[in-house]
Amino acid sequence: MNGQGNEATASLEVVRQGEVPRHVAVIMDGNGRWARQRGLPRSEGHRAGMTAVRETIEGAAEAGVSHLTLYAFSHENWSRPPTEVEALMGLLEEYVRSQRDELAQHGIRVTVFGDLTRLPEPARHAIAELETSTAEGTTLDVHLAISYGSRAEIVDVARALARRCVRGELRPEEIDARRFAAGLLTRDWPDPDLLIRTSGEQRISNFLLWQLAYAEIFVTDVLWPDFTREHLFGAFLEYRGRDRRFGLVKA
Ligand code: IPE
Ligand code: IPE
Ligand code: MG
Repeated sequence: MNGQGNEATASLEVVRQGEVPRHVAVIMDGNGRWARQRGLPRSEGHRAGMTAVRETIEGAAEAGVSHLTLYAFSHENWSRPPTEVEALMGLLEEYVRSQRDELAQHGIRVTVFGDLTRLPEPARHAIAELETSTAEGTTLDVHLAISYGSRAEIVDVARALARRCVRGELRPEEIDARRFAAGLLTRDWPDPDLLIRTSGEQRISNFLLWQLAYAEIFVTDVLWPDFTREHLFGAFLEYRGRDRRFGLVKA
C-alpha cells in the first residue's frame, strides 16, 4: 500500500473536547482489495462497506459534525464490468431501503447528488423515498454522491451561465466565484473542511474539485470495510492539529 500508514484511532470522549470539522467529505475506497484479501468476489467487499457507512454516519452524528458527504459511486465507475455495476446498484437500493427508517429516527437528513438519470428506476425511486422520509432531520446532513463527477458538474455550471449571457440576463463580468458556486450541486452546503480517503490512495478521483480548494486531506491505509468511528475520530484529532492558513500569513 502506498499511503501514509496513518491508522490512528481516537475515542469520542477525546474528540468531544475540542473543535470538530463542520463538513467532512469521504472517498470510501478499498472495497475490492478488502474482498480480494479474503478470496471473495468484489461485490462482497461492497456489501461489507455498508457497515462502514453506518459507522461513519453514527460517528459523525455523535461527534457533532454538521455535514457529511460520502462518495458512493463516481461517473467513471459506470465503466466497470456490468456485473459489478449491477451489484453496486442493487446494494445501493438495498442500503437505502433498509436504513431509511433508522436514519429518519436518528434525525439524519439525507440528500443525494449526481446524475441520477443514469440509475435504474427502482434505485431512483428508493432514493426519492429516502430523501422524503428524512427531510425533517436536524441532527446531521448526509450527502451521498452517486453517479457523480466533478468535471461534469463544473461544465454544467459553465453551460448554464453561458446560456444566461446569451439570453442577455447576465454580463460575463458579473460571473465570479460566488455566482459560479451558486450553480454547483452543493450550493446549499459549506465547503468541506476535511477530506478523508481510505485505502491509501492519494488522489481526488474527480470528487468535489471546486469545493475541496481548502480542505485538509487525510489519507489512511485502512480499507473502507474496516473503517470504524474510532478511525473517523482519529482523523478529527489530526485535523485539529492542522494549521489552516488559506493562503495567508500568521499575525
Ligand atoms: C470503493 O471501493 C467503492 C467504489 C468505488 C464504488 P473499490 O471498488 O474502488 O475498491 P478497490 O479500490 O478496487 O479496492
Ligand atoms: C473513487 O474511487 C470513487 C468512489 C469511492 C466512489 P475509485 O476506486 O473509483 O477511484 P480510482 O479509480 O482509484 O481513482
Ligand atoms: Mg478504488
